[in-house]
Amino acid sequence: MNERGSSATDLGVNLGGIKLQNPVTVASGTFGYGREYEDYLDIAKIGAVIVKGTTLEARPGNPGPRIIETPAGMLNAIGLENPGVEVFLQEYLPYLYEKNVTVIANIAGNTIEEYALLASRLEGQPGIAGIELNISCPNVKQGGLQFGTDPETVYQVVKAVKAASSLPVVPKLSPNVSDIVVIAKAAQAGGADALSMINTLMGMAIDVNKRKPVLGNVFGGLSGPAIKPVALRMIYQVYKAVDLPILGGGGIMNITDALEFMMAGASAISIGTGNFVNPMLAQEIVEGLGKYLKQSGLHNVQELVGIAVQK
Ligand SMILES: Cc1cc2nc3c(=O)[nH]c(=O)nc-3n(C[C@H](O)[C@H](O)[C@H](O)COP(=O)(O)O)c2cc1C
Repeated sequence: MNERGSSATDLGVNLGGIKLQNPVTVASGTFGYGREYEDYLDIAKIGAVIVKGTTLEARPGNPGPRIIETPAGMLNAIGLENPGVEVFLQEYLPYLYEKNVTVIANIAGNTIEEYALLASRLEGQPGIAGIELNISCPNVKQGGLQFGTDPETVYQVVKAVKAASSLPVVPKLSPNVSDIVVIAKAAQAGGADALSMINTLMGMAIDVNKRKPVLGNVFGGLSGPAIKPVALRMIYQVYKAVDLPILGGGGIMNITDALEFMMAGASAISIGTGNFVNPMLAQEIVEGLGKYLKQSGLHNVQELVGIAVQK
């Protein structure tokens, strides 16, 4: 049913037009611009590096504290701190291009027009294989409601970015909705080439001594193993209902987690919080997938995709 990837290598994946040498990517905001991890692993061996979310202008991010550990995960409210798209293109992208890293840019805007402008700015830039749309951002024109929670807005933003770019476009779905399939279908109708899921789940923590919220922003995004069952459930549902390849993630900490995501319907996977615990995790999972294929007598990793999904 879903688009199956094809490649000369056993681990190769075609994620809606983004050619990956293997299905393992690192999630936006957890791997900087790649270079930060070069002492730990060979970043060119990862399927793709999804770089920190880029906005049109530089953003200072939220006031602190911006991160707190939770049982089985963490809350973050970074607030998209980044130097802006021009600095990304001039100072960070050339290094990744030189290193032959497959780069997926991650963009975020306050309005649909900003998303389209960002997409057109990335057009023709050497080294960018695709665009991931962070739609878990407040839509300033609609009273700050997250783009990703309204199907009509999801449709509009994907359509606008598709019109502005010739690159494959991968909306990153927010799990903070009651029916993820409705949102996934809206993204498909807008022209999405693949779907990335899931972004963080909205949460918070209270400091009982200070009697106030811990995070400077009050609310933050929950990530890590705590969200894995939710991510798996949503990927499973979308795999059954929507004919687009899925980049799946949320709490992947080891090879077994990675296999679970692929069996639930993910053609490729993303590692986020796991990079903070073990900076070599992405490479270890690439190696683990290779071993698993050999042990199970499978030829192509894509044979695993959706294998656990019941008709
Ligand atoms: C510190 C931090 C910063 C993040 N920044 C971004 C970002 O800039 N853009 C984005 O789309 N997602 C961002 N995310 C979400 C991750 O890319 C990922 O979707 C999420 O953490 C779930 O995966 P995980 O449980 O493996 O971490 C961030 C997550 C963390 C923990």
